[in-house]
Formats: sequence, structure tokens, C-alpha cells
Amino acid sequence: MNQRLWQFAGGSAGQFEVHSVRPVIGETLPHVARLAVINGEAGLQAAPVFCLKGVTSNERYVTRSEKEELVAVQQPIGRPAARLGALIPIKKSQAWWDLPQDERRAIFEERSAHIEIGRRALPNVARRLHHCRDLGSSEPFDFLTWFDFAPEDEPRFDELVVALRATEEWRYVEREVEIRVSRSMPLSPS
Ligand code: HEM
Repeated sequence: MNQRLWQFAGGSAGQFEVHSVRPVIGETLPHVARLAVINGEAGLQAAPVFCLKGVTSNERYVTRSEKEELVAVQQPIGRPAARLGALIPIKKSQAWWDLPQDERRAIFEERSAHIEIGRRALPNVARRLHHCRDLGSSEPFDFLTWFDFAPEDEPRFDELVVALRATEEWRYVEREVEIRVSRSMPLSPS
């Protein structure tokens, strides 16, 4: 099994109840009742309305000191108290991908402070980043970003997304959808 592969299937089945599907930039996704989050290639029980795939990967931008700081505070996805979640698929523009790595890093952190802004939400918000680009041209997004947090931390998460969307980095986002979910049963950490 490819443990780096994750599938996010929207439809009538899955661990998560979907509260909202909201277009932030560009075309939305269809509204669905439930979201299934599946690790590996396992098939889906019911035919989903959409199925987004991504893989966890090596990091591209963090420096050693940033990484050490994040590792010291960040929490894994799946804590029992973290009953709310958000799946935010994102596609960046060709102009972003045409930039060399050093210029992308400069926009991402030196000018947009993505890590600095994100760090303020730790450890309350947990995250996992999935990359889609190298899975093939049929993937509609470049990234699947996945978060969970306790209900009392929802305002903190709301502030985080507002702050990130105001940055220079986000001028390169050409499609973004925000899917808010909840679960009632504790899940095993994953
Ligand atoms: C919870 C706080 C957050 C922290 C600590 C955080 C941190 C990071 C870090 C360190 C990376 C770079 C990983 C690498 O080196 O390759 C990254 C990438 C990314 N994050 Fe965040 N982030 C947070 C929240 C968010 C949110 C709320 C969104 C979406 C609204 C988001 C979207 C992304 C995307 C799309 C990338 C990939 C950027 C690219 O490679 O072009 N992040 N994040």
C-alpha cells in the first residue's frame, strides 16, 4: 500500500459530516453530505460525487530553524478533541510554477510570512499537506490542505485563513474551495 497516498471522497458516505462547501476563488465543488478520508489505494464503498487524491511529500520551503520550531509545537491530525475539520484544495497559477524555487520561497515566507502566520495557530490547529501535481494532469488541484481543531478553536482557524488569503502568495492562487466538516466519533490518529 502507498501510505503517502490519501483520498478525499465526497458523497453520501464517510467519517465526516459536511457542513459547507464554499468557493473561495474560482469554480466550487458540488455540495455533498459526507466526506470519506482514506489512506492508500483502497476502493470506496459508495460511488463518490468527487474524489480528490494527494500524496504527502518532502518539504520544499522550510529552513532548519523553522522546521525545528514547528516540530516542537505541532500536533498530529486526529486528536480526540479535534472534532472539526477543513479540507481546502488549492490550485496555483502557471505564473507561480514558472518561478524558480528561490523566488517562490521569497514570496512564500520572506514576503507573505506563511509559516510565521501559520505558527500562531499551533498547536491548536493540526495540518497535513498533500501534493497532487505529480499524480497527473487530471488532478484538478495542486494541493489538498487538511486541518483539524476543537470547536473552541474555530475562530482561530477562521482568522488564520483570512490572514493567509491577504498575502502576496495568494495572488497566485487561481482556485480554492473550503470544505468544513465535523465528526462525532474519535478517530485513531492518522
Ligand atoms: C495551521 C497553520 C499552518 C502552518 C503551520 C503552515 C505551514 C506550512 C509550511 C511549513 C509549508 C511549507 C512546507 C514545505 O516546506 O514544503 C506550508 C505549505 C502550504 N500551506 Fe500552510 N500552514 C498552515 C496553514 C495553512 C492554511 C490554513 C492553508 C490554506 C488555506 C495552507 C496552505 C498551504 C499550501 C497550499 C502550501 C503549499 C505551498 C506551495 O508549496 O506552494 N496552510 N504550510
